[in-house]
Amino acid sequence: MRRMVAEDLEAVRALESASFDATWPATAFEHELTKNPAARYVVVEDGGRTVAFGGLWLQFDQAHIVTVAVEPALRRGGIGRLAVHALVVIADAFEMGDVTLEVRESNQPARGLYRAYGFYDVGRRKRYYADNGEDAVIMTTEPLRSPAYQARLRGLLEDVERRFGSGVAAQLDGERLGAGETATG
Ligand SMILES: CC(C)(COP(=O)(O)OP(=O)(O)OC[C@H]1O[C@@H](n2cnc3c(N)ncnc32)[C@H](O)[C@@H]1OP(=O)(O)O)[C@@H](O)C(=O)NCCC(=O)NCCS
Repeated sequence: MRRMVAEDLEAVRALESASFDATWPATAFEHELTKNPAARYVVVEDGGRTVAFGGLWLQFDQAHIVTVAVEPALRRGGIGRLAVHALVVIADAFEMGDVTLEVRESNQPARGLYRAYGFYDVGRRKRYYADNGEDAVIMTTEPLRSPAYQARLRGLLEDVERRFGSGVAAQLDGERLGAGETATG
């Protein structure tokens, strides 16, 4: 688990194509890494191979998860949890009040993953997705600093440690994931 860098982009684009029907323009990730100081992106590596990524924007006092994807063959193994965990840790390190996102109404895997991280439905954007006119569900966490959410996060860390070993905790560190730095460019 580490911050995404320019050298990851080829692998990230391949993962993106395997994960979404509608992909971002070719230069979008590069722009995010080098020109958007509010963006933070992470990758999960397995044996030197990029198997997942995720990104968020820091917007005033609220973080907004913009994307998460896991290599199709490795799904349901807890890697999505790792990526979302890293994004929440970054948001917390930046003292964001909470974390929000939009997700396709039909995307039950993603909605399940986000629910596991304490996101709940707060509204809906009608016909938000241009490709098929699907609604987006808006999901948000409790305040990150609330004792309840911090307790949830500790429990979730224990879950990922059980699955990936105790070394994972050191990797899920806000500073290490680039919380203190601005965009890499
Ligand atoms: C959504 C996605 C990132 C989940 O990744 P993953 O590695 O399979 O997720 P995890 O194994 O960590 O699962 C975490 C939780 O999510 C939920 N979940 C994951 N896949 C699910 C599925 N197919 N059906 C129902 N719930 C699911 C479960 O609650 C699961 O917890 P559990 O394993 O203890 O039951 C992955 O399916 C993906 O890349 N999808 C395509 C891209 C996408 O839709 N991204 C999200 C929108 S930005």
